[in-house]
Amino acid sequence: MTKILYGKPVAEAVKEGLKSRIADLNDKGLQPGLAVLLVGEDPASCVYVRNKSRACEELGIFSETIRLPRDTEQSRLNAKIDELNADPRFHGILVQMPLPKGLSEREVVRRILPEKDVDGFHPFNVGSMVQGIPTFLPCTPAGIMKMMEYYDIRPAGKHVVIVGRSNIVGKPMANLLCQKSPRANATVTLCHTATENLQAHTLQADILIAAAGMPGMIREEMVREGVIVIDVGVNRIPDPTAKNGTRLCGDVDFDRVSCKAAAITPVPGGVGLMTIAMLMQNTVEAAENCLK
Ligand code: GUN
Repeated sequence: MTKILYGKPVAEAVKEGLKSRIADLNDKGLQPGLAVLLVGEDPASCVYVRNKSRACEELGIFSETIRLPRDTEQSRLNAKIDELNADPRFHGILVQMPLPKGLSEREVVRRILPEKDVDGFHPFNVGSMVQGIPTFLPCTPAGIMKMMEYYDIRPAGKHVVIVGRSNIVGKPMANLLCQKSPRANATVTLCHTATENLQAHTLQADILIAAAGMPGMIREEMVREGVIVIDVGVNRIPDPTAKNGTRLCGDVDFDRVSCKAAAITPVPGGVGLMTIAMLMQNTVEAAENCLK
């Protein structure tokens, strides 16, 4: 029987664990705060940002969503980040990616103070992560590590194949999994758009992590029997049978691949919920760091 790895119980456990930490902060006169900056009106980004703000509300984290128009200039965006860096109500700052064309993500991730960088994207925090120094970890890879722990999936000594080399998921995921620690210690292969014979690699995977942003790209013939599949893709595709004419699907052909897999995450309902839970955790940690 294939095990379905739902994100909900794991995300709930993480959020439950945060409640007492938030209460402790409140006792000390501090309410954790998160500023979310959204530039433009990308529909997927709007949904993510709304979900992040709901999660804050549910936990009693102060949050504000700042919306800037699509044609915002880099200097205006930079000035807004500087303002949030200086605002003591916000312990964490998140700029929703991707940014509209013409704006530099590279400039943005360097502009946010490392101590407010709850996305874990600042080169200072990325460097710490690579060296195994405790820091804010990017939320999706950190959420996947947490999910594996919850479901007692042990990557140590196993071959993990990651498809996708983004700064948000693929690259940090590869780094976390090859750390010399009991919950990591995997042998990692990182595949990307220039990988020759992708299937030859994915067939080697004990654990396959799909983070390419291509609907259904991982097909049944690309995985071996008994594989564990983590699907990070969130793609909106046309579906005439759906009420609004579209539906969400992952990077994995779930119906066919799940027949061969020992365990698989669903989309929606899998990794996505973890990203938000880990963002909440990083925000609480950022607030706690202010008292140290
Ligand atoms: N876009 C997709 N995932 C993320 C994320 O984890 N953080 C930010 N800031 N943008 C994203």
